[in-house]
Amino acid sequence: MKTTKKVITLDEFIYERERDFPFATGELSGLLRDIGFAAKIVNREVNKAGLVDILGTTGISNTTGDEVKKLDLFANEQFITSLQVSGECCGIASEEMETFLPINTEDAKNAKYVVTLDPLDGSSNIDVNVGIGTIFSIYRRQSFFGPCTLEDFLQKGSRQVAAGYIFYGSSTMMVYTTGNGVNGFTLDPSIGEFCLSHPNIKIPETGKIYSVNQGNFLKFDQAIKDYITYCQSEDKTTGRPYSLRYIGSLVADVHRSLLYGGIFMYPASKGAPQGKLRLLFECFPMSFIIEQAGGKASDGQRRILDIQPTELHQKCPVFLGSTQMVEKVEEFIRQAREASAASATPGSAVTA
Ligand code: AHG
Ligand code: MN
Ligand code: MN
Repeated sequence: MKTTKKVITLDEFIYERERDFPFATGELSGLLRDIGFAAKIVNREVNKAGLVDILGTTGISNTTGDEVKKLDLFANEQFITSLQVSGECCGIASEEMETFLPINTEDAKNAKYVVTLDPLDGSSNIDVNVGIGTIFSIYRRQSFFGPCTLEDFLQKGSRQVAAGYIFYGSSTMMVYTTGNGVNGFTLDPSIGEFCLSHPNIKIPETGKIYSVNQGNFLKFDQAIKDYITYCQSEDKTTGRPYSLRYIGSLVADVHRSLLYGGIFMYPASKGAPQGKLRLLFECFPMSFIIEQAGGKASDGQRRILDIQPTELHQKCPVFLGSTQMVEKVEEFIRQAREASAASATPGSAVTA
């Protein structure tokens, strides 16, 4: 008789992993389950987005100046409600909210975790049926008890306890890490469960795809222009020219890089000295996932996870993906800095 392969659901997986930690209180597991639940509801709205009057803009901008779509607000409310009622986190910071939201109910105010959210990533793609996502990360609070404080959120990325994303694409997936590898779950709509489909994801050491908004080319530093030209140049040993893929939803571009290998970049440019992506809501969680899958995440010079944030909505240039490719762009940046330092030092000019 043919045996059917046992499907492992997200909830079962979370429960199994919790049993590996004898002193686990179940709060982190509860948070991950809440996020999984909210994701299913947002997924339902995303799927019927073309059918109901939820599309279009609200005419207001979020704190970093981007136009906010209605689905952004729906997702924000949904994740917050789901996290609030469980009482397992004492505060939430979201890309859609100027300041953090303390949760001061009796259950929650002494809870030990805080959560950061980009509830709807890739919002410019909602109206055109292109993949969008949700990004989250979870930290242990710094304050001991009572209402959470700003310092609870302003922690280095290396202090994340868990991070992940939900990708509403051709299928819906949740990918997350608790610092012990990366696992991916695909939503089976017929049973309404996320099922383990991509256990222990490892990013290839190198790849053949670079991903950047090349429309900004003329505004990039020379080192980045040179690296892009390198990606486009022919070389048999490294398989260049690389292909360019850019979806404009970070979740989708990172997901592809994770599975196929490649590099994703959002560098600084003229007029945007820190790039566009937000350190807390986008760069930290994606960097944690990429590192946990064996890749690398850098701001061009430093490991992203070592950056100490000073503001909730701080931005940061980002280069992440296959280790060898990220190291290559760092090499271009380092060489350009050394050359400019040398030319600024009197008497350093090399004579023939
Ligand atoms: P969000 O929709 O959460 O504001 O994020 C949009 C981000 C990110 O998803 C993507 O990588 C980037 O913006 C695209 O920006 P450009 O259109 O400037 O390339
Ligand atoms: Mn985003
Ligand atoms: Mn967003």
